[in-house]
Amino acid sequence: MPTIAPSVENVPHSRIRELAEIAMGMDGVLRLYFGESNLPTPDYIKQAAIRAMQDGYTFYTENAGLPSLRRALADNYRRLQNVDLDPASEIVITASGVQALNVGIRCTLDPSDEALVLTPAWPNGSSCAMMANAVVRQIPHPLCGDRYVIDFDALERAVTPRTRMLLYTSPSNPLGWVATESEQRALLDFARRHDLWLIADEVYDRLYYAGAALGDPVPSILRLATRDDAVMVVHSFSKSYCMTGWRVGWLVARRDAAAKATQLNEFIISHAPSFAQKAAETALADGEPELVRMLERLKENRDLCLNALRGAPGVTVPKPDGAFYLFPRIDGLTDSFGFCRRLLEETRVGLAPGVAFGAGGEGSIRICYAAERSILEPAMERLNQYLRSGS
Ligand SMILES: Cc1ncc(COP(=O)(O)O)c(C=O)c1O
Repeated sequence: MPTIAPSVENVPHSRIRELAEIAMGMDGVLRLYFGESNLPTPDYIKQAAIRAMQDGYTFYTENAGLPSLRRALADNYRRLQNVDLDPASEIVITASGVQALNVGIRCTLDPSDEALVLTPAWPNGSSCAMMANAVVRQIPHPLCGDRYVIDFDALERAVTPRTRMLLYTSPSNPLGWVATESEQRALLDFARRHDLWLIADEVYDRLYYAGAALGDPVPSILRLATRDDAVMVVHSFSKSYCMTGWRVGWLVARRDAAAKATQLNEFIISHAPSFAQKAAETALADGEPELVRMLERLKENRDLCLNALRGAPGVTVPKPDGAFYLFPRIDGLTDSFGFCRRLLEETRVGLAPGVAFGAGGEGSIRICYAAERSILEPAMERLNQYLRSGS
């Protein structure tokens, strides 16, 4: 009997999903396991999608996405990051951040090539590399005092003649860690020295609490790279505009890679949904006030959760500067999946297990603090009690 190809058989399940699927079969769960808030997409974006459908955006678009959306993104990069991009050749619209990650990785790796991935990280990056039949080497971020850092010695040791790519995420899911400019320079320098593609997952760049003002993005790696560098940036509308279900993202890449990703798009998804691309344009044009309001709320949520955890026994939780996650480490915890499952069954609080995030993740749990207070407050209270009971 024909079997599933072993190369895909070996791609692991997402353990966040595994936990979520148990939770979805239960009533009354306070859901903090996915990377999204329970707030709906703002109305002005929904209205823009309806208008777009009425205006005829129901047909195929270019493989690289609507030129008007690419121009709007290039304008945004100029305004927010002081980076000049050619919308026609350096930006590809994708059907989500994960699709940008997938097609970007696909353009960099051949079977048996090796990819370096900084972890703990959202598991999809490693899994996309495995779907390309590459070998993944995960390099954990060590915690140095109260800040995560990059272990450059471990990176150097992990390089082999087959290494082709390095993937990092800043702001990080799950750590909330944000790469400093000197860390970005060092990553770029490392990638140049070893002839590697550098893929930066920047989907959380607008969710930043340490800029001069709320709404200032984390400086992109594109500020340091030249347009000839082997650099790609993965991005998405999901997080900044509460559009997780819409599936619109983008990839910024060197021209040759952007052209190849555009061509491959045809065979993967062809393009992101036409009316969703149009609505994304409206999100870029009109979304700033709503985004800043969301950031104010998220920052307060972060501080609420940090305070709730500060006194909990055996818990270490650095204060993150970006994204919307806390990743507390719990002394003596060796089975974070079991912990999250018991927490779910006994208290109806759904968190993501640290083990889902690869090397360096076991022993921690991930809390997504993007939910409304009416969910977050009781969830933190129950978690705190659970931790104090020594369960
Ligand atoms: C680090 C990171 N990158 C990319 C994505 C992809 O987002 P989407 O596929 O919804 O655009 C996520 C979603 O959780 C993420 O956490």
